[in-house]
Amino acid sequence: KGCIRVQCEKTLIILKPDAIKRNLVGKIIGKIEEKNYTIESMNMKTLSVEDLTYHYDEHKGKGFFPDLLDYMSSGPVVIMVVSGDNVIKGMRKLCGATDPLEADAGTIRGTYASTKNENLIHSSDSIESSKREVAYFIK
Ligand code: PPS
Repeated sequence: KGCIRVQCEKTLIILKPDAIKRNLVGKIIGKIEEKNYTIESMNMKTLSVEDLTYHYDEHKGKGFFPDLLDYMSSGPVVIMVVSGDNVIKGMRKLCGATDPLEADAGTIRGTYASTKNENLIHSSDSIESSKREVAYFIK
C-alpha cells in the first residue's frame, strides 16, 4: 500500500474545526474516497498555536492571520495523509477555491462552505509543502 508509481504523490489534508462541528467529516471523506484516493493515515487533534504558527508561516503578518489562528485552534481537526496519482493538484481541485463564492459547484467548498474564513478543508499546495507538512504532522 502507498505510493510506488512515479505520478503517485502524498498530500496533507486537514479537515478544519467547522467540518467537525457541522458533522461534515463523513461527507468530505466520501468525496475523497469517490475520487479513488487512498487515505494512508488519519488522526484527530486540537492544533496548538505553535502547530499553526509553523503550518501557516508564509501567511504570518497578513491581516487574516490572527483570525485564522483563532478559528483553526477553536476545536479538533482531522489530519490525513492522502495518496494517489497527481493527488496534490487533484485534491486542490476537489477542495475548490479558497473563497467559496469562487469555488466550482461540486467541489467541497463549493458544496458546503459559504465564507472564506471557514472553508472546511486544507490541502497542501505543492510537493514541497506536502513534504514539509507531512513531516511535521505525522511523527
Ligand atoms: S493567499 O493570501 O492568496 O496566499 O491566501 P490563500 O493561499 O488563498 O489562503 C491562505 C490560507 O489562509 C486561509 N484564510 C484566508 N485567506 C485569505 N483571506 C482570508 N480572509 C482568509 N481567512 C482564512 C485560507 O483558507 C488558506 O488556508 P488553507 O488552510 O491553506 O486553505
